[in-house]
Amino acid sequence: MIQVITTVKDLKEALNSCRQNGKTIGLVPTMGALHEGHASLVRRSVAENDITVVSDFVNPTQFNDKNDLKNYPRTMEADCQLLEKVGAQYVFAPTVEEMYPEPDTRTFDFTPLDKVMEGPNRPGHFNGVAQIVSKLFYAVEPDRAYFGEKDFQQLAIIREMVRQLGLKIEIVGCPIVREEDGMALSSRNMLLSKAERKLAANISRTLFESRYYARHHTLALTRKYVIDTINSHEGLEVEYYEIVDGRTLQPVDNWDATDYIVGCVTVHCGKVRLIDNIKYKE
Ligand code: PAJ
Repeated sequence: MIQVITTVKDLKEALNSCRQNGKTIGLVPTMGALHEGHASLVRRSVAENDITVVSDFVNPTQFNDKNDLKNYPRTMEADCQLLEKVGAQYVFAPTVEEMYPEPDTRTFDFTPLDKVMEGPNRPGHFNGVAQIVSKLFYAVEPDRAYFGEKDFQQLAIIREMVRQLGLKIEIVGCPIVREEDGMALSSRNMLLSKAERKLAANISRTLFESRYYARHHTLALTRKYVIDTINSHEGLEVEYYEIVDGRTLQPVDNWDATDYIVGCVTVHCGKVRLIDNIKYKE
């Protein structure tokens, strides 16, 4: 039976006895509204650790848009059912007061990783992510923590945070899980109407097509191709498309600049903000 824990004290107690018995602990941080993308992270943790803790907490400090926070889907009961099936031992579902008994005034600096893409477009977002993920790391003290490549910039920033804080946690990056039509799974997809959902499939379709286009075109032309093609669908609007070095996240200007090249996109579809990415070189 999966156990739901709501306080840091109870969580530490439960995990300390596991740790004393020599068990390894995997952590999968989530904001709930779980889908197969989350499930893939949990399965990996279950396979690699004795105990898996999944946190299910919509973290207010990482939302720079109040409406986005208000509308974020919350499906706790279904989440627990999925986690039970996948084999996690604990769900950590604290209240906001439990995680933030006082305002968190810590500011992180992940220069240059947080100065591009989502950074300037969502002020304070990564600082909020670092606040909650560091709190979760201190509460759980996991051996490993699992993050999806879907949030490519977030994964790079978490690795950097662990390095800066000197934590002994192995960060495991997991591949993007997609729907049959290529669309990356996201909790936000359930906020799309049927028509919007169909339209949104053009985002991943264009990214995949651009890998072929890139074989015979410059990086600048490929970037333009992706932006123009997505924008040509009425109802989709690209916020940014950057083709970057997969390690530094800084834009590159030609295909030979580095051996790890990723294209990261954010697109507005109606009121919903969607992100996706694709590897050109790895
Ligand atoms: P959330 O959006 O719930 O995502 C939780 C984890 O699931 C993240 O590591 C994310 O990259 C991963 N994920 C989401 N969709 C995925 C997909 N289609 N394939 C693979 N992995 C996927 O990211 C957050 O929550 C929060 O910022 C959090 C890290 C929990 C901090 O609040």
